[in-house]
Amino acid sequence: MLVTLSEILRDANERHYAVGAFNCLSLENVMGALEAAEELRSPIILQLAEVQFPEAPMELMAPLYLEAARRSSVPVCVHLDHGQSVETCVRAIRLGFTSVMFDGAALPFEENVAASGLVTRIAKAAGVDVEAELGKVGNSGVDTADVFTDVDESVRFVQQTGIDALAVAIGNLHGHYVHTPQLNIARLIEIHEANRLPLVLHGGSGTSEADFKACIRGGICKINVATAIQRGIMKRITERLAQKPDEDYISLKQVMIDASREVVADHIRLFESNRRVQ
Ligand code: 13P
Repeated sequence: MLVTLSEILRDANERHYAVGAFNCLSLENVMGALEAAEELRSPIILQLAEVQFPEAPMELMAPLYLEAARRSSVPVCVHLDHGQSVETCVRAIRLGFTSVMFDGAALPFEENVAASGLVTRIAKAAGVDVEAELGKVGNSGVDTADVFTDVDESVRFVQQTGIDALAVAIGNLHGHYVHTPQLNIARLIEIHEANRLPLVLHGGSGTSEADFKACIRGGICKINVATAIQRGIMKRITERLAQKPDEDYISLKQVMIDASREVVADHIRLFESNRRVQ
């Protein structure tokens, strides 16, 4: 069933688990992810980031995500990840996404507040939820001067924008980690204690089980995963082609579905969102 972000995160926030938000770029990817969620009786978030539009155009992916969500026997939120402008968020809302992220983290604080607040007013009028980011989640392999989310700023940001979920920067990075990340769990707990709303961890791929658990205990209830799924699918395709170089297309599609299901299932278990749905 298709639900909003706040509906899917309410129970996670109360009962201390996280819902996985998986960036899915193909039919096989979506089918495998939903099979995992249904088998494990877990809520799930399907998401697409604006930087992924060239390989998976939002207008083409939206009907797939939405119909898959409606047919599913578990709660599914359809979410725009890292919307880079107000216009992109409005496009996603018009397409039927139940949640949008506006990413104004690179903007000065007041501009981020203004734009995130505008997206929230528009989204709320359409019954859609909003995630926004404060502090900067960098990219792995790139020498970024990461800025952790400031606790006092987070309180002002949440109050002034009216968002439903806040993405925090606590040492997490997008992509596959070159070095083991040093997550600032103490900062996460401070942000969680100062704000009642659900918190989001970006850059889930490559995070250790211990760090995932510490984040969930510290107040994270949505975790974004992209790179790990792509790597998992590629690994399975490579293995199959090494075994059987003339493997046919239909069989490779099934390999992709199976790989997506396995990677998503592993994360669902790690995030303890399994067995949460009847
Ligand atoms: P990873 O690619 O590190 O899993 O990050 C995903 C993400 O945060 C998408 O917003």
